[in-house]
Amino acid sequence: MRLVTFGAHVLDVLAHPVDTIPDGQGAALVGQMRMSAAGPAGGTAITMAKLGAEVFTVGAIGDDDAGTVLTTALNRFGVVTDHLRRVEAATSMSVLPIRSNGDRPALHMPGANLAYPLPDAPLELFTGADHVHLGAPELLNPPELAPLLDDIRATGTTISADLLADGDPGVLAWLSPILEHLDYLLPNAAQVYGLTAQPDLISACRSLIDLGVGCVAVTDGGDGAHVVTADDAEHAQATAVDVVDTSGCGDAFSAGFLVARGHDRSLLESARIGCAVAGIVAGGLGSDHGDFTWGDVAPDHPTAVV
Ligand SMILES: Nc1ncnc2c1ncn2[C@@H]1O[C@H](COP(=O)(O)OP(=O)(O)OP(=O)(O)O)[C@@H](O)[C@H]1O
Ligand SMILES: [Mg+2]
Repeated sequence: MRLVTFGAHVLDVLAHPVDTIPDGQGAALVGQMRMSAAGPAGGTAITMAKLGAEVFTVGAIGDDDAGTVLTTALNRFGVVTDHLRRVEAATSMSVLPIRSNGDRPALHMPGANLAYPLPDAPLELFTGADHVHLGAPELLNPPELAPLLDDIRATGTTISADLLADGDPGVLAWLSPILEHLDYLLPNAAQVYGLTAQPDLISACRSLIDLGVGCVAVTDGGDGAHVVTADDAEHAQATAVDVVDTSGCGDAFSAGFLVARGHDRSLLESARIGCAVAGIVAGGLGSDHGDFTWGDVAPDHPTAVV
């Protein structure tokens, strides 16, 4: 299965555990610090590659050391980075002081993710793929992106998107030109509530379907995920896990869900597989945590553990 992720790449710098920031010039020791390639394109690409897909990632990074580290980290998992463009902006980074209870305050710099030159997007790479996943299309330019998505889908390639921005009705209006081109939208519950300003999650997802999205697979932290179509709504439980850090769990869910769809699994089973993958990622520090394969998470596979 050939998959392309297109959009935001972030170099995460994580420290754990961080329950208070020292006053003034104070210092504190922490048990673990590490970097990981992340973001709804980069982080999702890594998990898709772990699950056995052939993965190409497309987006913008800076001509700086952070961009080099990010590229090296993606390559280590087998993600093809030939279509990452170096632009005149700093590579996007997040600093994540992870609390001992797993909470994840974030300091984020969008940087190069706002500077991808859409006219240079590699149409042949997209049309040659089984599926294209957009990681934060709100940072690309939706009115300019829509005709490209039309061309991609005309060849039979399916398209999904996850968001990085908090949801609000303005973001929904900004995204409106691309919604009809999405087979799947994979946001979290807070984003869906914010986008739609509706109090009931399933009705809120339906209102996105009314705007043209094929299926909304919405994650809801420890409550798992819902897959909502025009006719149906099903719930997948989260797995029981001792949470260390949930950063990148939404990206891990997307990867598990989309690889499972590529294996022709049903929507519900794909959401369960997404939750299984996300649960593994939640058990350690960083969105690239966990050593697993498709065989470990696919229910009827002989080596499955979940
Ligand atoms: N406390 C938890 N226990 C078990 N599973 C969890 C927990 N938190 C998250 N998950 C798993 O991770 C999935 C995604 O989580 P969440 O809804 O928090 O994503 P998100 O906010 O989009 O994350 P990110 O954007 O950082 O990738 C959930 O559907 C669930 O399967
Ligand atoms: Mg998310």
